[in-house]
Amino acid sequence: MPANQRRLELADCLDHVIQGDARTVLARLPDQCVHCIVTSPPYFGHRVYAKEETSQEMGREATVSEYVERLTQSLAEARRVLRQDGTLWLNLGDTYRRGVLQGVPWRVALRLSEAGWCLRSDIIWQKPNAMPAAVTTRPTTDHEYVFLFSKSAPYYYDADAIREPHVTFTEKSKMRGGRRHFGVRNGTPEQGKNAGNMNLHHARWDQAFHPRGRNKRTVWPVPLGKCREAHFAVFPEKLIEPCLLAGCPREGVVLDPFLGSGTTAMVAKRLGRHFIGIELVAEYVELSLRRIQSVQPELPL
Ligand SMILES: C[S@@+](CC[C@H](N)C(=O)[O-])C[C@H]1O[C@@H](n2cnc3c(N)ncnc32)[C@H](O)[C@@H]1O
Repeated sequence: MPANQRRLELADCLDHVIQGDARTVLARLPDQCVHCIVTSPPYFGHRVYAKEETSQEMGREATVSEYVERLTQSLAEARRVLRQDGTLWLNLGDTYRRGVLQGVPWRVALRLSEAGWCLRSDIIWQKPNAMPAAVTTRPTTDHEYVFLFSKSAPYYYDADAIREPHVTFTEKSKMRGGRRHFGVRNGTPEQGKNAGNMNLHHARWDQAFHPRGRNKRTVWPVPLGKCREAHFAVFPEKLIEPCLLAGCPREGVVLDPFLGSGTTAMVAKRLGRHFIGIELVAEYVELSLRRIQSVQPELPL
């Protein structure tokens, strides 16, 4: 059997970047060996990555339906590689054709649901520094999606790792002083200085206001970053940090089958997670290796 078709052991690919077509390489990986998948495949009809034309490159399909089908098939192979309690965090942007929005991310999400994935969240990546667009017939797009899918139920999701600050009662708020109920069983801001305020309902505030912050919301404002070396469509580290923290335990394994310039692997290394990267274009494999090498782990493995 040729070396590029042989089954791979986990040790062969852990913390490695493998060059090749995602679907073909995934077919060589062991079953259920990764905790989560964080990835951004080429968007339909956006840009060309490989200098020489190759039918293996995703995103160049003639129709949206062909694109959706091909991505679904690649992710079916990724599903086999994912642990039973694992999650897929899929970043996708949409495409206009002759001024008509194609709805590609949702077409993919619905097709993946049909294929057995459980859609758990449609996170909006809002880009505060999105490029201006010369359009006057519709609003300027400043968002993309990050779909969270699980393979099954129950699934691993560490909500505590990505809590965000409560905003209801800041020190400047008229409710200041009302924070003492946080984390206190039966503590409610309706008592004490706020007694009689009918705008407040009697509820389990000790549960609603978790002492470590509120549950992560679904709109994530994250500015687009810069990658000094040439690669288009690098996603910001801040966008995927929550995906890795909530989706993969320390020392677990994160897979990105469309690794590009290596952002997923860099964040994994920094946060004390293992990675497996797959990338079609040799030039980007080299770029990703340089970028991964430059990372200092904050949380050791
Ligand atoms: C949107 S970019 C990923 C960017 C990445 N998230 C980053 O931060 O750099 C998509 C990548 O998928 C690669 N690609 C395209 N078709 C592929 C295929 N069939 N298998 C594996 N990688 C592929 C492209 O070369 C490109 O680098």
